[in-house]
Formats: sequence, structure tokens, C-alpha cells
Amino acid sequence: MDFGLKGRRALVTGASSGLGRAIADTLVKERATVAVSSRGGEKLQKAAKELGAALAVPCDLTQAGAARGLVREVTQKLGGLDVLVVNAGGPPSGGFEAITVEQWQTGFQSLWLATVDAIQEALPGMKAQGWGRIVLVTSTAAREAMNNLTVSNGLRAGLLGLVKSLSNEVAPYGITVNAALPGYHATDRMKDLGLSDEKVAPNIPARRLGRPEEFAALVTFLASEPAAYISGQSIACDGGALRGF
Ligand SMILES: NC(=O)c1ccc[n+]([C@@H]2O[C@H](COP(=O)([O-])OP(=O)(O)OC[C@H]3O[C@@H](n4cnc5c(N)ncnc54)[C@H](OP(=O)(O)O)[C@@H]3O)[C@@H](O)[C@H]2O)c1
Repeated sequence: MDFGLKGRRALVTGASSGLGRAIADTLVKERATVAVSSRGGEKLQKAAKELGAALAVPCDLTQAGAARGLVREVTQKLGGLDVLVVNAGGPPSGGFEAITVEQWQTGFQSLWLATVDAIQEALPGMKAQGWGRIVLVTSTAAREAMNNLTVSNGLRAGLLGLVKSLSNEVAPYGITVNAALPGYHATDRMKDLGLSDEKVAPNIPARRLGRPEEFAALVTFLASEPAAYISGQSIACDGGALRGF
């Protein structure tokens, strides 16, 4: 299948490792012109070089307004933006009583407000060109709460409402908005949460963690030309782990 991504200008945030990096890699392989971003430093530069990304722009999504500046800079340097993939580092783990107000605020900034900022900055150009793909990387926690991930559970569910609301408004402009929901994939985040293959796999129908490139395939399809009629959806890539409809 031709994904029609050749020459499309894409930005992937949180792209120096894990799922974001795999998404950037797949988009580059589909011959899109890809800008990658993360908090920056050697890790981002190294990833950009290895991926063959066109551009690497540091941006800490926990900083208010930073995502707006990022999208503005990338759009200007690439001469426009066709695909926006919003992905961020995972919020802190913990039960409700362990989470401080400051952690809620930081989580809301990086998972929510940075998403709003990035989309607001990208939309006018996408509307003007009559084509756009927006994909939010969230989590299956948005549909089924995970133990000890209160911030993720709380904030990501709301993003699905944002996807529904926004997709409805921008569909007439040839813009799709979808959420891709990772289940358990083998990345640093899983190690940080102390979740090994042995601990998690027995509870997944596929009996293994997902590979980042399997998740990236879903995001790349949602960013593609053939996915033009798919919008307002939240689609999991989780080895069958979500039991609900
Ligand atoms: N892996 C899974 O199975 C899974 C499951 C459900 C949900 N998720 C969610 O999916 C997202 C990606 O997960 P992952 O497993 O790929 O995580 P990861 O391996 O830890 O990678 C996170 C990426 O985000 C960047 N990042 C971290 N903090 C950032 C910040 N403040 N601003 C900008 N970039 C930042 C990191 O780069 P730098 O260090 O260079 O900044 C890195 O590129 C997370 O939100 C995670 O909670 C993952």
C-alpha cells in the first residue's frame, strides 16, 4: 500500500527514544520529511542523526508555551506542516494520595496544554492547505485505568474527548484527528515503571510486550493518505489487552 507520505512534512515530539522514535523512524522510511523533538541534548541529536531526520528541535513540554514555539519553528523551517504527532514523556506513577498538586500541574501541562498549544499552532496552516493529520499518543489507560497510574488515567481519558470534539470541527478541512493508545510496549518507560516482560505478558492475550515499531505502524497509517476517512477515533495497539468495546 502506498501511504502517500513521500514529501509530507511531519513533526514528532518525544521522539528521541521509545515509541516517538519508532514513529519518526517509520515516517522517515515512508519518505516523509521529519522533524524530531524532545528535551534535547546529545540524546536528541544522536537520534536525529541515526533516524535521518531533517530537523531536531529541543522542546521541554513541561514548560508552558514551549510546544507553540516548537510548532512555529518547525513549520517555518520545513515550509509548512502536514503531520503532527504529539507524544510526551509519561507522567509520574502513584496512587491518588501520593500525587502532589505540583505533579498534577506538570502532568496537565505536558500531556494536555502542550497538546492544545501544538494543535492550535498547527491548525491554521493545515486548514489553509486543506490537508492535515493529527495523532495523539495517549495510553490504554485512557479507556481502562491502570493500577498506580492516577495521573495518566485521569488526564488521558479527557484527551479522547478532545479528539472527538476537534475532529468534528476540522473534518471539513481535510484534517483528521485521532488518538493512538499504546498498551505495554518494550521501551524505557516500561523499565522506569518496573514493568518487565515476565510481569506483564501473562495478562496480555498476545503473551508479550508490543514492539515500538508495531505501535509506530498504527500511527503511520493514521497519518497516511489512505486513512483520510478515519477521524475522531481512539485506537489501541495492545495485543488484545483492553477487554471493553
Ligand atoms: N511504552 C508503553 O508501553 C506505553 C504504554 C502506555 C502509554 N505510554 C505513553 O506513551 C508515551 C511514550 O512512551 P515511551 O514508552 O516511548 O516513553 P520513553 O521511552 O520514556 O520515551 C519518552 C520520550 O519523550 C521524551 N520526553 C520525556 N520528557 C519530555 C518532556 N518533558 N518534553 C519533551 N519530551 C520529553 C523523551 O526524550 P528526552 O529524554 O530526550 O526528553 C523520549 O524521547 C508516554 O507518555 C507514555 O506514558 C507508553
